[in-house]
Amino acid sequence: MVNLAHKIGLNGVDLYADALDRAAQEALLDDVRKIARAAPLYTPETPRGQKMSVRMTAAGQFGWITDRRGYRYEARHPRGTVWPDIPESLLAVWRAVAPDARVPECALINFYAEGARMGLHQDKDEADFSQPVVSVSLGDEGLFRVGGAERGGKTASHWLRSGDIAVLGGEARLAYHGVDKIRFGSSTLLPDGGRINLTMRVVT
Ligand code: SIN
Ligand code: FE2
Repeated sequence: MVNLAHKIGLNGVDLYADALDRAAQEALLDDVRKIARAAPLYTPETPRGQKMSVRMTAAGQFGWITDRRGYRYEARHPRGTVWPDIPESLLAVWRAVAPDARVPECALINFYAEGARMGLHQDKDEADFSQPVVSVSLGDEGLFRVGGAERGGKTASHWLRSGDIAVLGGEARLAYHGVDKIRFGSSTLLPDGGRINLTMRVVT
């Protein structure tokens, strides 16, 4: 069950606070662990050779990756194996918040350990910007920042908590966004702390 009652707008991005209850969060976490067993988290490098502070893996037909060769979607994990399927628990979230959208082809998994962050960026490696990006937060709180479609515009921030969902669609599909910091240890969902963000996208 996805609860869409607590909707907040942040520069055109729709945030659904407390959308997933604890049992739903635990079920998703279980599925994330299964994915990470088949497709281990790794530390991506930017095209300029900087190690990112988040660790990543993915599920679906495609995973988003970055290395010296650039940002792109790939049908295989850097290890050479295909990505696990997107779990039904996550597909149900997509259908609840984006009933008219196509089926997602990628669920990117970002793991934020203590001190990890993600700089402002656009999600623009997909082919069809009429399709939304749907993101689910699990674990520790993260300070989410959203601007407009141009770099350097005014931004607004909101602490995303475990069970919150963000939808970047319509005018906000190409909004700059990032996570400035996490409040390590603020949630009891992950026994060792940290934040997980699951981002579903249609790629083709
Ligand atoms: C992302 O934009 O890939 C991650 C957003 C988040 O961690 O909430
Ligand atoms: Fe993003």
